[in-house]
Amino acid sequence: MLVIHTISETRRHLDGFRKSDKTLGFVPTMGALHQGHIELIRRSCRENDMTACSIFVNPIQFNNPEDLAKYPRTLETDLEMLREAGCDLVFVPTVEEMYPGPVTEKYDFGPLEKVMEGAHRPGHFNGVAIVVKKLLDIIQPNRAYFGEKDFQQLRIIQSLVKIKAMPVEIVPCPIVREADGLAMSSRNRRLSEAERANAPEIYQTLLMAAKLVRVRTVDEVKNICAENLTKKGFVVDYFEIADIETLQPVDDWNDSPGVIACVAAFLGSVRLIDNMILFRIFAG
Ligand code: PAJ
Repeated sequence: MLVIHTISETRRHLDGFRKSDKTLGFVPTMGALHQGHIELIRRSCRENDMTACSIFVNPIQFNNPEDLAKYPRTLETDLEMLREAGCDLVFVPTVEEMYPGPVTEKYDFGPLEKVMEGAHRPGHFNGVAIVVKKLLDIIQPNRAYFGEKDFQQLRIIQSLVKIKAMPVEIVPCPIVREADGLAMSSRNRRLSEAERANAPEIYQTLLMAAKLVRVRTVDEVKNICAENLTKKGFVVDYFEIADIETLQPVDDWNDSPGVIACVAAFLGSVRLIDNMILFRIFAG
């Protein structure tokens, strides 16, 4: 497995490969890898002749400086896990390599960026879009793999690729969970033992929402779920029920053919996000 730190060297290695008719899969990450990331790598390895991964803690997508400072960094074990999963190339740039000059690009994703994570983390998705655009331009993969754990991010990236007419297939991948239902996340390492024991309540609450579809109104379910999390010691940023495509809030269960519940909540100082597709009706 090649570990490369510069854009020019990455390009040099991939240019020759691209001239062949083989396919390249790409998995962008911020490191502190867990089984959720590794599933994306494995899938890319199955579906492509070559797989590249990036590890870059992207400072411009953190709206909270403390979150950036405390973001776990575990490069050596990350590389070990990637090697074992069959990854061929890892791009590990420095901040200076990615951002040699001022960053001024501004994206407009319309209503998609005005809700949930977009509303609660100003500038976050602009920072994500800038780095993902740049990484896709450097790697130029045939396919790029994104987890549904960050469902709104997935929709933002799909929108980015459409807006910029980028020649890459975005492949959504299901959420990987711990045995007790907690969605795997690099931030889980920052939970205390007691918080970690409590954290699966998010998943339980999402299951509860799924059971209450059409039994209660959308508003009632949102309130019941948010109150349940508060009662269990979480500080809830939002518990939203939204259209699965546009991610705009729905008022009534009949408003959309596909509906997702999305939640962001703090346990102590750690902010956790999760989601669950409540239903999806396929036409025809
Ligand atoms: P990061 O949080 O490291 O996640 C990298 C990829 O792994 C994302 O596509 C994310 O959705 C996916 N992922 C994380 N946890 C997962 C889980 N439990 N199950 C399935 N997939 C999971 O997301 C980012 O980094 C950054 O915003 C990035 C896209 C790299 C841009 O900086």
